[in-house]
Amino acid sequence: MIYHIPWIYIPVRTALAIWHQLTNYEIRELSKSTVCMRDPKKVEEIIQSMHKAGPSTLQVISDFDMTLTRFANNGKRCPTSHNIFDNSKLISEECKKNLKDLLNTYYPIEIDSSRTVEEKLPHMVEWWTKAHDLLIQQKIRKDLLAQVVRESDAMLREGYKVFFDQLQEHNIPLLIFSAGIGDVLEEVIRQNNVFHSNVRVFSNYMDFDDNGVLRAFKGQLIHTYNKREEALLNTGHFQELQDRHNVLLLGDSLGDLTMADGVQNVQNILKIGYLNDKVEERKESYLSSYDIVLEKDETMDVPNAVLHHITGGQ
Ligand code: TMP
Ligand code: MG
Repeated sequence: MIYHIPWIYIPVRTALAIWHQLTNYEIRELSKSTVCMRDPKKVEEIIQSMHKAGPSTLQVISDFDMTLTRFANNGKRCPTSHNIFDNSKLISEECKKNLKDLLNTYYPIEIDSSRTVEEKLPHMVEWWTKAHDLLIQQKIRKDLLAQVVRESDAMLREGYKVFFDQLQEHNIPLLIFSAGIGDVLEEVIRQNNVFHSNVRVFSNYMDFDDNGVLRAFKGQLIHTYNKREEALLNTGHFQELQDRHNVLLLGDSLGDLTMADGVQNVQNILKIGYLNDKVEERKESYLSSYDIVLEKDETMDVPNAVLHHITGGQ
């Protein structure tokens, strides 16, 4: 009511504008209907602190599947880096069916909010091991991967170019920490022309024989719930970034929350989580673990706006 009286309305608006200029905090995208925060004040403090410290102290650690890529497009599910083979000629119909059966069995376990991580762990190892064995049996050829990716429905989220370009422009390292398939996700990024020199990937990489035929997967298996262990094994990467004490973490699973555990002396960490599926039953647990939760949001709008602010934009 009182705001309808012009002589009060104008000074209030002016005072608010001055306040925003003084605090330098106005990120319109945080008012989007898809944004949920348990503690907006804490989010503001973290972003302000990162803004003051500047881009030279920042590193970004992100999951890939369903975080940098879209969960759905026009109501149709987009593939993960494993599922990209589903619509390809590289694997047999029988293999496609087996992979789908595995997905139908294990994906509900992966996202089940009534089970603990410890309970889920053996199931995840089983899922990944079986899926990789199936792929190995198909004798996939390295030289055909690019075409499979080109013909797939995999899509980076809307606004991905601004995201990758902004990080490159400000020399901010981006670590993509993925339980998907490294060779496939690298190809997705390359085909979108954003595989810049500041991008590093930890993932499951294919091992090809001398004829370029898949024969195994390299190194220790990364699945949804062991992203911390792998971080510790790769401390070399984090050591390179010793001065980068501020972390922007992006994920879509509760397993992604530990991706920054290898970073020493973290000063500020801002965790942004995409809540793509089973929103109502998982919202509570996401709100208590992620600082910003993005509900069914297929865009990079919020990470982009946060980065824009931290790197000096208004
Ligand atoms: P991410 O860590 O990059 O998100 O990749 C892990 C996702 O991959 C996880 O959500 C489960 C999914 N996945 C499949 O879609 N199909 C498979 O065969 C396997 C093993 C995992
Ligand atoms: Mg994911």
